[in-house]
Amino acid sequence: MNRRYRKTVIAGNWKMNKTAPEAREFVEKLRPAAAKAKWCETVLCVPFTDIQTCVKAAKSARIFIGAQNVHEAKSGAFTGEISAEMLDVLGAKYVIIGHSERRQYFSETDDTINAKVRAALGAGMHPILCVGESRVQRDLSVQEDFVRMQVKSDLSGLTPSEVRKVVIAYEPIWAIGTGQTASADDAQEICRMIRETIRKMHGARCARAVSILYGGSMNEKNASELLSKPDIDGGLIGGASLDVKKFSAIIDAANQ
Ligand code: PGA
Repeated sequence: MNRRYRKTVIAGNWKMNKTAPEAREFVEKLRPAAAKAKWCETVLCVPFTDIQTCVKAAKSARIFIGAQNVHEAKSGAFTGEISAEMLDVLGAKYVIIGHSERRQYFSETDDTINAKVRAALGAGMHPILCVGESRVQRDLSVQEDFVRMQVKSDLSGLTPSEVRKVVIAYEPIWAIGTGQTASADDAQEICRMIRETIRKMHGARCARAVSILYGGSMNEKNASELLSKPDIDGGLIGGASLDVKKFSAIIDAANQ
């Protein structure tokens, strides 16, 4: 973490879990941990159907609500999709874009992801852009090249002031939901490379202002070590964000 130049963010990704009543109860229970976290922004990325309930429940708490996906178009004939303006009007401040599950199960490409990032920024939201290599890519030692390509493509055409509003989450696919967390050194190495890529695209001031998170089996036990690394500014947390005690403990760790 480096709080002098950028914010620390702990974001939960609930995926397809929790009904609206369950979500309301969770937010109530999360309030104390979020209230103590003066140095860290707490975000919950919830199913679309929970957004309104969570925004209401998080009122006057230091908890920001986000979505997990957005459509790139402003409006139109896209049955079943949700636009950035619709999310903004509900009070969502963040939106996860390009999660590996969206890339894998819903065939999202870097071109689509780039369009979604632009749409979210256009509506005044903060995209949480996910990048990360597969197991095969890591075994072939091409993770740096692959993630660099994702960062360049997904942020293509943005101005430096737009890039500063993007939160980047490095999530190695082999670490997601598997319990196989990347070592803090390996995670730091890729997060450092991501910052270097942004520096080459937009200069040092922009690069040092961007929050870069780690995601992939981050939990209350390994959070402190990961967060002690200079280029890891927080976490995107799946499984452990469903348990209010575990998620609160991660927020505490990020607030140290
Ligand atoms: P995990 O998920 O923490 O359960 O590995 C992270 C994510 O998918 O964002």
